[in-house]
Amino acid sequence: MDENMLDCIRALAENRIQDAKDKAIICCINDTTKKNASKTSYYKKLLENGSTKMFELPLNLKGLLNVQDVSDFNEARYYLGKEQKKTYEQIVEGVNSTLKMLEYGIPYMNSTLIYGEPGTGKTEFAKYVAFKLGLPYAYLNFSYLIDSYMGKTAQNLNRIFDYCKGKKCVLMLDEIDCIGIERGHDTGADGELGRTTIALMQSLDGLVDGQIVIGATNRCDRLDKALLRRFQRQVVFKPFDKEERQAMIEAYMNSVDSSFLTDDIVQYADESHTQAEIVKFLIEQIVNKINE
Ligand SMILES: Nc1ncnc2c1ncn2[C@@H]1O[C@H](COP(=O)(O)OP(=O)(O)OP(=O)(O)O)[C@@H](O)[C@H]1O
Ligand SMILES: [Mg+2]
Repeated sequence: MDENMLDCIRALAENRIQDAKDKAIICCINDTTKKNASKTSYYKKLLENGSTKMFELPLNLKGLLNVQDVSDFNEARYYLGKEQKKTYEQIVEGVNSTLKMLEYGIPYMNSTLIYGEPGTGKTEFAKYVAFKLGLPYAYLNFSYLIDSYMGKTAQNLNRIFDYCKGKKCVLMLDEIDCIGIERGHDTGADGELGRTTIALMQSLDGLVDGQIVIGATNRCDRLDKALLRRFQRQVVFKPFDKEERQAMIEAYMNSVDSSFLTDDIVQYADESHTQAEIVKFLIEQIVNKINE
């Protein structure tokens, strides 16, 4: 085993995933044996795609867009509900469709709009998708963008989307209703929101090359119809049903310590709760168990 391989294993053992990936890339480059050539070139490509290093933000975008390496996402604590599973499968299908459509010269954006009440796992799902596909997670929160940069929102949007163009990532547009408000409903003094909605649509139209766009909102009714049309699919995330709640509770507790899972805790699934409420409840239970 050479120095790089050792470093790679050490980084993995210490949970420094990005460092491990960097070392693994060097291992691929260093291995010049013919029999491994196709494998090492393929692994190198995968490693580079998921690398946040490839996605170092320029200074003028720091604070606007947040890019994360989500390779340490804890899959054992994420329960894939029925709607989430279906949506994930559609997104994966969309990855293939995007490539084929590009060959035919037809722009096709792999875009999903998720709406649902607070705590139904919209933001968490986008992270899960980035993790499963081994892509960087680029997070843009519109409430923040609007609040802090009113007056320059359209310009900032253009800068962000220009930068994302051509980079493979999951681009999460959170709280999109803050910006994509229906034109005409904008009561702002200078029609700023209407202009930024148009800027957002133009920016989205420019993204056709490998980005997976996920928009999330609690208020789908407020969104501009033309903006809604930019999304290939629109899905509703609801609080899990009883069967899902039970499976989620069991999976979560088993991933922590299966001896913590008591009948009382499973019974929490009998009543309706959002995913956020369930996790909050489970964390309280775990704290109690630790202090028993
Ligand atoms: N499928 C799931 N499995 C396990 N935990 C989940 C799941 N979905 C959501 N959670 C947990 O619930 C919490 C809330 O989820 P999230 O923030 O994604 O909700 P949201 O729909 O984006 O809410 P909001 O509308 O308030 O932004 C998170 O802390 C997450 O850990
Ligand atoms: Mg959210």
